[in-house]
Amino acid sequence: MLAGMEHENTHPGERMRNLIESVEAHLTRLKEDGITTVEVDPATLRALRDSLDAAQGPQTPLSPENEEGRITMSAPLEAIARRIAACRLCRLCETRTNTVPGQGASNPDIMFIGEGPGADEDAQGLAFVGRAGQLLTKIIAAMGYQREEVWIGNIVKCRPPNNRVPTPEEMEACLPYLREQIALLKPRAIVCLGATAVKGLFDTKTGITKLRGQWMTFEGIDTMPTYHPAYLLRNPPAKRDVWEDMQDVLRRLGRPVPGKQS
Ligand code: URA
Repeated sequence: MLAGMEHENTHPGERMRNLIESVEAHLTRLKEDGITTVEVDPATLRALRDSLDAAQGPQTPLSPENEEGRITMSAPLEAIARRIAACRLCRLCETRTNTVPGQGASNPDIMFIGEGPGADEDAQGLAFVGRAGQLLTKIIAAMGYQREEVWIGNIVKCRPPNNRVPTPEEMEACLPYLREQIALLKPRAIVCLGATAVKGLFDTKTGITKLRGQWMTFEGIDTMPTYHPAYLLRNPPAKRDVWEDMQDVLRRLGRPVPGKQS
């Protein structure tokens, strides 16, 4: 079985996923046949270890580049990203191209949390790199930060087909990853971008229009709900509200508050 899995043109992460799926299917069949113990050949274990090492090699870009231009991320964050890459907890794994764990500084002042990857993010494995992402970059710059100085991620780490809103079950399945990321990153503030981000963290039915601009607390961290950049692209006058919210975030962080929207 192992030899048959080794397609040279396949990405190591993909090979590892295929391998795990095959092992899972094989064990399930054995269990159905009433077999409760399995002897594993040491050569098989070695092959599994080699595949795992290969899968952990250069992967989807995750975080800011270091001086040599390589993408870096702290080991615990990388470990979470690897688990996300192998995740099959909901059906979004069936249609994704890449997982999008989120990226940015490992000790950010601010974590920006959106809904879920779109087509560009799914293609690149990076959060907020499409049109909405470009607007988010402008917002971040207007706040006096570079993108690499904050952390940017989503409630769900895989693209929902046709960019539909993730289901409550998908959000629930994915939330533990974000909880772990928040616990590691310890941001001084969280910005929830749009209704889904707020629903994902707070399980509230109140709409974003009511909630935006009102501080909330998630795991003891000041959290500001505001509109999603994609909404701002459709409704530019709402940029004024978002800018007010971001000014409030800067005040809370004791950072200089630029007067005007970029
Ligand atoms: N919209 C989101 O909510 N997240 C992304 O990463 C991109 C678009």
